Amino acid sequence: MSALLETRGVWQRFGGLVANSDVSISVGRGEIVGLIGPNGAGKSTLFNLIAGVLPPTQGSIWFDGEDVTNLPAAQRCQRGIGRTFQVVKSFETMTVIDNVIVGALVRNTVMKEARRKAREVLEFTGLAARADVLASDLVPAEKRRLEVARALATGPKLLLLDEVLTGLTPTEAQTGVALVRKVRDAGITVLMVEHVMEIVMPLVDRAIVLDLGKVLVEGKPADVVRDPKVIKAYLGDRHAVGA
Ligand SMILES: Nc1ncnc2c1ncn2[C@@H]1O[C@H](COP(=O)(O)OP(=O)(O)O)[C@@H](O)[C@H]1O
Ligand SMILES: [Mg+2]
Repeated sequence: MSALLETRGVWQRFGGLVANSDVSISVGRGEIVGLIGPNGAGKSTLFNLIAGVLPPTQGSIWFDGEDVTNLPAAQRCQRGIGRTFQVVKSFETMTVIDNVIVGALVRNTVMKEARRKAREVLEFTGLAARADVLASDLVPAEKRRLEVARALATGPKLLLLDEVLTGLTPTEAQTGVALVRKVRDAGITVLMVEHVMEIVMPLVDRAIVLDLGKVLVEGKPADVVRDPKVIKAYLGDRHAVGA
């Protein structure tokens, strides 16, 4: 069977800056794929191209056997591409459940149905006890989970997670890892961006490393972490930030 997602020769230019340079990746049905790479490598940009926030400067995006390059974000979401944002985008002045209902309305236009779906997703993500509090009252780890819940409520075939495990305590990160596994076990394919390799490598079936907008290496996590090109890209990044 064909891949669920493919990017074919995708470029994104912002003026003179090349954020994605001839990126061709594929994600198979049922996989958890990690998209990693130093800051500024072009990971979030690629997510925006896949989700339809931006049209690529060049190249095409294929989802579930269809060329979706010219579809707007809302239609890609309808077809089954769900995503979170690196910068949390929940509606702070709304309750947790209302935030999730907004996601559920993508597929259920009857309010009662959308509410039922939202409750189910809150159970699934471990947020049921927080349903009626304002999103602004959640602690950071819960806000990340709310982002995931909102995306899940849209009924995705493919879930794009942008740094949902970054900045969490080790315990919170492990809870997040367990949730990603549960999502895959529910039949949803996952493409996740993480900056921190230690968290993402044990979780993913395959890792794709972006550096300077290009695919540097891809393969099994154990091989990728040992690849000299990957080590150099990450060390270079650490030097760049002075760490
Ligand atoms: N909307 C934009 N306009 C101009 N430059 C952008 C925009 N979005 C991202 N960039 C630039 O593109 C490059 C890749 O950014 P990004 O995709 O956010 O990287 P990553 O998520 O891997 O850290 C960076 O140099 C960033 O400054
Ligand atoms: Mg990013």
